Amino acid sequence: MADLDGNKAEKDYHADKPFAVSGNFHVKGAANLDWGVKKRLSNIFNPRTGNTVMFAFDHGYFMGSVSGLERLDLLMPKLIDHVDVLMATRGALRTCVRPNFRKGIALRVTSGSSMLNDDLSHEVVAVDMEDAIRMDADALAVQVFVGADGQLSSLENLSKVVNAANRYGIATLGVVAVGKDMERTDKYFKLATRIIAELGANIVKTYYCEKFDEVVAACPVPIVVAGGKKLPEKQALEMAYNSIQGGARGLDMGRNIFQSPNPAAMADAIAKIVHRKFTVKEAWEFYSDAVGQKS
Ligand code: R5P
Repeated sequence: MADLDGNKAEKDYHADKPFAVSGNFHVKGAANLDWGVKKRLSNIFNPRTGNTVMFAFDHGYFMGSVSGLERLDLLMPKLIDHVDVLMATRGALRTCVRPNFRKGIALRVTSGSSMLNDDLSHEVVAVDMEDAIRMDADALAVQVFVGADGQLSSLENLSKVVNAANRYGIATLGVVAVGKDMERTDKYFKLATRIIAELGANIVKTYYCEKFDEVVAACPVPIVVAGGKKLPEKQALEMAYNSIQGGARGLDMGRNIFQSPNPAAMADAIAKIVHRKFTVKEAWEFYSDAVGQKS
């Protein structure tokens, strides 16, 4: 292990230079992967834009029925055509989502805590690879708690899932967790995202922050940005826009879509930013028109 004392603090991320090992494939860091995993990554990242709108509704795995997700069976038919990827638990997918859709699936495979715990950082891998294949998962989502009490077990979970998923050409999505006492700085996100990518994840989900372009530059796989707690719609669109401008390849958004008064319109507005290069103003006008309000 490298000696940590006296490390040079300044780093040059060359954030203005494109990733240099892209080959002819549209997903960062995937040029040297096999056909099957490239196909699955193409179910997630649109080959035309390179980007994705992921809809995260896996909250129930530790939060129960959060506001907006009380009736997944009623919500999903309204939303499914407006997003590219469903990020969910196998229980939610099997019970509440008809299988006759053509969207990517990011299957949540770690669990083990609930809102009743003070420390949420202790999870296990709860889904067998056979069941992930049965669910036709394109990516397996693993929560990672860098710097928390459960860091070791979460990194072990990530490594186990990468090992198993690699055998079958399934991608792994590492999700950076932010607990109430954990930093939300570029320094923290650079550390967490890079660890996750170096352990073999093909996609990293993290939060938008200052110097986000440097977080992206230092991470050799695509970053998708988490929505986080519900913001006013215009602010959420600003965050989506800033994320894409900073180099994110998509949004993986939950509450800012399903807790919006019009989830489908919000998902469409996000998609305009992600795939159609809309500005915040254009996306806000689009959303306002769709819901019949003055922008
Ligand atoms: C992360 O902890 C989980 O994947 C969440 O359930 C989900 O990603 C959160 O989405 P959002 O913060 O956008 O509501």
